[in-house]
Amino acid sequence: MSETIEKLERLDKKRKEHEKKEIERSSIYLKIFRANRATGEQAHYDTVEVPVQRSTTVLDALLYAKGYKDHSIGIRYSCRMASCGSCGMKINGIPRLACYTKVSELYGDTITCEPLSNFPHIRDLATDFTQFFEHHKDMQPYIQNENADIKDPSKLSEFVQSPEDVDKFLQFSYCIKCGCCYSACPTVAMDTKFPGPQALAQAYRYFADSRDAATEERLELVDDRHGIFRCHFAGSCSTVCPKGVDPALGIQLLKGHMLGYSSNEKKIADLKERLMRK
Ligand code: SF4
Ligand code: SF4
Ligand code: FES
Repeated sequence: MSETIEKLERLDKKRKEHEKKEIERSSIYLKIFRANRATGEQAHYDTVEVPVQRSTTVLDALLYAKGYKDHSIGIRYSCRMASCGSCGMKINGIPRLACYTKVSELYGDTITCEPLSNFPHIRDLATDFTQFFEHHKDMQPYIQNENADIKDPSKLSEFVQSPEDVDKFLQFSYCIKCGCCYSACPTVAMDTKFPGPQALAQAYRYFADSRDAATEERLELVDDRHGIFRCHFAGSCSTVCPKGVDPALGIQLLKGHMLGYSSNEKKIADLKERLMRK
């Protein structure tokens, strides 16, 4: 017992030391990947010192660097509030949203910013999302139900869903298409025809929606040699997802339906519980 208390006290001391250091830290170095496909500029890193406060995000720091040190740094961003999905990049080697990552959460005085892996590179921190969005579109990410077509507005009626119905797909609908999961996926790195965790999780999102009637078609869409069974469930996609979507869970649930045992709700609940414990 006393050993546990001592351990906790040591951890608490360490945390306080880290926080004190954070308050004292007034600047950091950003090590930024630079290259330009259009001009043929070779890959290299530029290091820039920027002032920081406790609330400074990596995006704030990059925008300071762009505004006051080097206007030519290429970054993609928009909302600055983890909603648009534009600012995905590798920060200290891990795919993250720059606007959702505080400098104070990262150890060390130098923060490395690089473009996402598994995407063709455009310039500096900006990558090409064309294929990623193609994979998303291939999953037909919309409700398919002839009663949803507005042919005669006077005959419109609502779709009734219970809270349990909504629960089945809700977390998967939080995806902001930032590409962090796609960047972390080892299967995408090996096979560009593999739809990737984002698209497959969306396939499950519409499959699980009780308003959708394209059940069989959706299973067929993901069932080919580059399809869902290429996923070997390492789970790195879920680890890096900033919105808690857990694409690996969606993929496993969809696989379960394809194998024909998913009508057993208990098995789905068990699988979900096991994945949560991971
Ligand atoms: S599943 Fe998560 S990590 Fe992947 S694109 Fe959607 S929000 Fe981003
Ligand atoms: S669980 Fe599947 S989709 Fe997710 S990173 Fe691993 S291989 Fe890719
Ligand atoms: S700027 Fe929109 S998610 Fe970061």
